Amino acid sequence: MPIPAKNILFTGGTGGLAKEALKLLLTQDLGKITVAGRNKDKLAQVKQELVAELGAERVSKLNFAAGFDMSNPIKIEAAINHLPSQPFDIVCLGAGGAVFGNQRQTFSWQGKEYEKTLFQNVIGGHVTLAHLLKRQLIANGARVVVIGGEGARGIKGMIAKPSFASVQALQDYVFARSSEKYNPMNALGASKLLAALWSQHLSHICQPHFESIWFTPGFIYGTGGTSGLPKWQEWFAQKIVFKIMAKFGMAQSPSLAASKLVACLNGSIGKNGDLLGAPEGKTIGPLTDQKPMNKAFTDKALQAEFWSILTTLYPIDSDYLADIKEVKYA
Ligand SMILES: NC(=O)c1ccc[n+]([C@@H]2O[C@H](COP(=O)([O-])OP(=O)(O)OC[C@H]3O[C@@H](n4cnc5c(N)ncnc54)[C@H](OP(=O)(O)O)[C@@H]3O)[C@@H](O)[C@H]2O)c1
Repeated sequence: MPIPAKNILFTGGTGGLAKEALKLLLTQDLGKITVAGRNKDKLAQVKQELVAELGAERVSKLNFAAGFDMSNPIKIEAAINHLPSQPFDIVCLGAGGAVFGNQRQTFSWQGKEYEKTLFQNVIGGHVTLAHLLKRQLIANGARVVVIGGEGARGIKGMIAKPSFASVQALQDYVFARSSEKYNPMNALGASKLLAALWSQHLSHICQPHFESIWFTPGFIYGTGGTSGLPKWQEWFAQKIVFKIMAKFGMAQSPSLAASKLVACLNGSIGKNGDLLGAPEGKTIGPLTDQKPMNKAFTDKALQAEFWSILTTLYPIDSDYLADIKEVKYA
């Protein structure tokens, strides 16, 4: 029996991982895909690249939507209000990356300062989901996949294992009051941990409407993840560091990473509440439950606090989720 066509939304659609995933999704003919990005010209460039590789007819299945700037809630709302009214069966929240520099940067929103890496990797995703729900653009039974990263449980020698000793420590981190010296990779790890706390909380409250899965394919070489670095550092990261990592089986091609992501998007792997990524101590490998790798992942007090911060900033439409029981914490 043919699989019914799906309606898919992919944020961060101009990224290296996204482009490979789009090619696979198009080849699998899964359905209609909205490629969401922050920059119109970059989206046009992606379209051109895909047409050159796959032909105009295949690419006509894509709808390109600009304005999905994860650091700009007003633009996100406007972009979602411009989408057609057909609900999405699959939502991939894939926008994100590190904020390079020596100093912690902040993002001001409604009189508060937020840690910038966190805003663009997680809070923007929450704002996106809140507006999709408000417009009833999440189909019943939908799958929401939040792209995480192995940094959420630390990577020896690269990213310190992130944790928050208390709810107060989490608040201090979110509102950029932490006195710890800024390290962009540690900040990325912390934001991916917070994305996991968000996805975990969602997984408790979203049933039976949709499911929420946090997923990371493992390290990838050749994507734009290092593009915020000064030119010579970017060159060094791509041409030396990633080459060595690939040689020693520590980083994979964007197409291999995309095949894992697509398996998660199309429902072949993962279920509501999962946190999936590379095995303990590894940067790539068979997809493995991440929960035992950092006890913060399942810390209910941290989950509740982060959810409270996010929903104070942007409430999730209570009409849509009216029949959802309050989450019970042990
Ligand atoms: N590379 C890895 O080793 C690796 C491993 C695990 C997980 N991941 C995660 O996978 C996702 C894709 O990464 P990638 O490696 O493909 O990197 P990438 O090529 O740099 O793609 C990142 C994407 O996120 C978008 N983005 C970044 N900041 C944004 C913002 N403030 N608002 C809107 N869009 C924003 C970028 O948009 P522009 O094109 O406009 O810049 C781009 O589309 C990221 O979440 C990353 O953390 C990466």
